Amino acid sequence: MVVLSGSNSRPMAEQLARELSWHHHFIETRRFPDTEGYIRIPDDLIDAIRSEPVVLVSNTFPDSGIIETLLMLEAINDVRGGKLENLREIGPQILDDVGPGIILAIPYFGYSRQDKRFRPGEAISAKAIANLLAAKCDGIIVFDLHAPKVLQGLSVPVAFTSAMPELAKHLQTTVNPDFILSPDKGAIDRASEVAEIIDCQFSYLEKTRIDAHTIIHQAKDLDVEGKVVAIVDDMIATGGTICRAADALRTQGATEVHAACSHGLFTGGAVARLIRYVDGVHATSSLKNPRDVISGGPALARGVRELFDRLEW
Ligand code: R5P
Repeated sequence: MVVLSGSNSRPMAEQLARELSWHHHFIETRRFPDTEGYIRIPDDLIDAIRSEPVVLVSNTFPDSGIIETLLMLEAINDVRGGKLENLREIGPQILDDVGPGIILAIPYFGYSRQDKRFRPGEAISAKAIANLLAAKCDGIIVFDLHAPKVLQGLSVPVAFTSAMPELAKHLQTTVNPDFILSPDKGAIDRASEVAEIIDCQFSYLEKTRIDAHTIIHQAKDLDVEGKVVAIVDDMIATGGTICRAADALRTQGATEVHAACSHGLFTGGAVARLIRYVDGVHATSSLKNPRDVISGGPALARGVRELFDRLEW
């Protein structure tokens, strides 16, 4: 089987292909001067895409990633459906439809945080994007999704996978934490899984977000005096959540504080801000980022195996 990728998920696609011992191929991607995207499946890939199921690895981030993913899925559907007619009349124009066999693997699902209608009139962006993607593939794998509930009831099967086992192993060998902290209630499942694997103490903070840049962490007595603490979250964007949590930990006597996440978005100088508050920042390869130290390949491969086991082809 083959792993395909466009412009935004190459490292993760390569790691996945290595894990599964499958071939990895690039889809041609370009950008026109006006910023619009162009994608094309190279001629020498057409047979491979038609002869076996394919896994396309692509992020829906930034916005151009959504368009690129949709265009790549459209082109793969046409190739598998045998729709090859082209104005230059290159190659066979029409072939048999080879049937279902397109899986989309999303390392970072952009818009995942707009998973509810918080105020009247809002779009549930995560759901809207998922529905567009589901219409063009036969199954979806999502890597450390912010809140999986939003993808319930999609028209295709979905497998959720997580890099917490690899993140735990990485923290254990490089940091050896005594304490794992979830910076809010939303990250409790993820962070407690890490604490369980490492076999160390765990707690969480109560976070109230006032706006994108203002966060209040409720004071809470944590047993962190003299301890090495790792804060585990699904994503770090501005770094505000981690900086506030690190502040709370230092105030309560933590000697070393690390930040670990699946998705290193690191927007607006986040890394520079973070290193004033924490001793280390650790992220996976789901997004291109300067703190990519944990391979997402094994987790994505688990998701692929789980989904392929459920599908009947
Ligand atoms: C929110 O619930 C997420 O899990 C993260 O905690 C949040 O998105 C991180 O954002 P920032 O780094 O901007 O505080």
